[in-house]
Amino acid sequence: MREIEEQAAEAYTERFGENPELIASAPGRINLIGEHTDYNGGFVLPCAVSRRVAVAAGHGSGELYSTNFDEGRRMDDGKDSSWADYPRGVAWAFGEAGREVGDFRAAYAGDVPLGSGLSSSAAIEAATVLALDALFRLDMDRRELAVLCQRAENEFVGVQSGIMDQYASLLCEEGSALLVDCRSLEAQNVPLDLEKVNLTLLVCDTRVERGLADTGYNDRRAACERAARTLGVKELRDARKEDLGRLSGEELKRARHIVTENARVLEATDALRAGDFPDLGRLMYASHASMRDDFEISTRELDAFVELAEAAGAPGARLTGAGFGGCAIALARTGETEALARDVTRAFAERGFEEPVFYKFGPSAGAEVAR
Ligand code: GLA
Repeated sequence: MREIEEQAAEAYTERFGENPELIASAPGRINLIGEHTDYNGGFVLPCAVSRRVAVAAGHGSGELYSTNFDEGRRMDDGKDSSWADYPRGVAWAFGEAGREVGDFRAAYAGDVPLGSGLSSSAAIEAATVLALDALFRLDMDRRELAVLCQRAENEFVGVQSGIMDQYASLLCEEGSALLVDCRSLEAQNVPLDLEKVNLTLLVCDTRVERGLADTGYNDRRAACERAARTLGVKELRDARKEDLGRLSGEELKRARHIVTENARVLEATDALRAGDFPDLGRLMYASHASMRDDFEISTRELDAFVELAEAAGAPGARLTGAGFGGCAIALARTGETEALARDVTRAFAERGFEEPVFYKFGPSAGAEVAR
């Protein structure tokens, strides 16, 4: 068992006086490329990170406990804008899908950084959905479980996110990225062996709260939908480069990002399969420029990180996740990550930015029932 899973198990035993019946855990994610494409029916290429949320669960009377917040909540209390809304939302979504779950109790422990764009919320949903699926012997398909988590997030928690994060958390495999067609919901693992080519994924958390994230995110969604309507297509997935000439202003910029980003995801997947990391890196930089100039979701901190990575000769870098703060990633040569992190920390201090935090993640395993 992983340490974080042990922590959840111990918390369960301490809190409820019995051993848990099972333990499950699910990872956060970074996205290599394909941003804001998921709710446009397009493509994404995320991979799971080694930070996880673990849950220890058993039949019982609806008590929930979080070691991170050191507090107990109840399943049957209404929505209260706390972490407990995720397990409540997941149980609700099972019911909506006609697969009612019975009473349970659960203890959580997690080390996915909260609120920095590494999908801690998808991780708690995915860990919960897998634990309940096993506890109540529902034996549902992982893809169905991911859709159920998205429904919990959209309709219960009330965040209009796409399917990427839940898919990544439930379907990624160790050593691979996951290519998802967010329209058909088909997913394929694409091997990503960075060690072999002496590369590392360096994640820079700019520590800028994604404060505007919700409004900004919903605005971008609405603009994409407007652009699709103007073009007479179901979703921007169906728009081609040639169609963009029929758009102007904000609709043009937003749609140009989506159309070119979808193409970049497919190219990046080919590059990965061919082991062409310089090409993958080039596409990452192009993706960042498109998010900065056309989709307008970058910040000066994220831009600074990407510029410094490029100046230091890193093969690729880009913001990852929703934008408006949060994290950026660099595909960096393994021997050069420490120097890059140092340079970035110094440059951020000079510019009066928050001190960034760095993580190095290899592509990790998706959600698992540990015991
Ligand atoms: C957030 C959402 C995802 C996706 C990304 C942007 O992480 O939860 O569904 O839209 O932003 O790519």
